[in-house]
Amino acid sequence: EAYFTERAPLKNKKVLITAGPTQEPIDPVRYIGNRSTGKMGYEIARAAAALGADVTLISGPVALEPPKNVKTVLVNTAAEMYKETLSRFDKMDIGILSAAVSDYRPVKVADEKIKKSSDNLNIELEKTDDILKSLGAKKKKDQILIGFALETENALENAKKKREEKNCDMIVLNSLRDKGAGFGHDTNKVILILRNKNINLELKPKSEVAKDIFDCIIQEFL
Ligand code: CTP
Ligand code: CA
Repeated sequence: EAYFTERAPLKNKKVLITAGPTQEPIDPVRYIGNRSTGKMGYEIARAAAALGADVTLISGPVALEPPKNVKTVLVNTAAEMYKETLSRFDKMDIGILSAAVSDYRPVKVADEKIKKSSDNLNIELEKTDDILKSLGAKKKKDQILIGFALETENALENAKKKREEKNCDMIVLNSLRDKGAGFGHDTNKVILILRNKNINLELKPKSEVAKDIFDCIIQEFL
């Protein structure tokens, strides 16, 4: 039993993960997106499955193979990701929201391709729902919720504020400054922001960052 538990420390744990960007349509051929490739989230899903968890991955459009032994649900928009994530969270033990969700979407989606005419074009945008914040608001005591943060200024301070405001147990703060970290790279450098301490991880492969995140979860919360 002890041996098996050690080998599969997340056995019987249900883990919900969001990954990748979202795409918010402007017209039938255009969208608002971002540079997320989904690599970090997919590595987290892989690591969770390797540790014995029952893993559901809600993924925006990426160019990655769905991980083995993971239930993958593909979505396009922030609204779709919200629906698929919120409807599943109640049954989950751990939520890890690594997706780069669009903060805004066009108010109206044009039925036809927008033709080029005037020199300037304005597209009115409205806020999307914050998935992480919604989960934080309904989280039960025994559920663990992890968010990500991407900051380009006052990183530590802003990330701490995000953890508190969204009621998550931990924020994984992404560095964009460091070489080899962030969008598209196979390596990442992150700081784990907990209630009472920060853990600075070295620059390392995203697969290793994913393992470190679970080491931290297991040590701090399970
Ligand atoms: N997030 C989310 N739903 C949104 C926006 C963000 O679930 N509509 C989640 C992300 O998946 C991430 C965390 O919130 O886990 C922080 O995302 P980030 O973009 O860094 O912060 P925001 O709260 O969106 O604030 P801002 O972009 O203004 O810094
Ligand atoms: Ca954002």
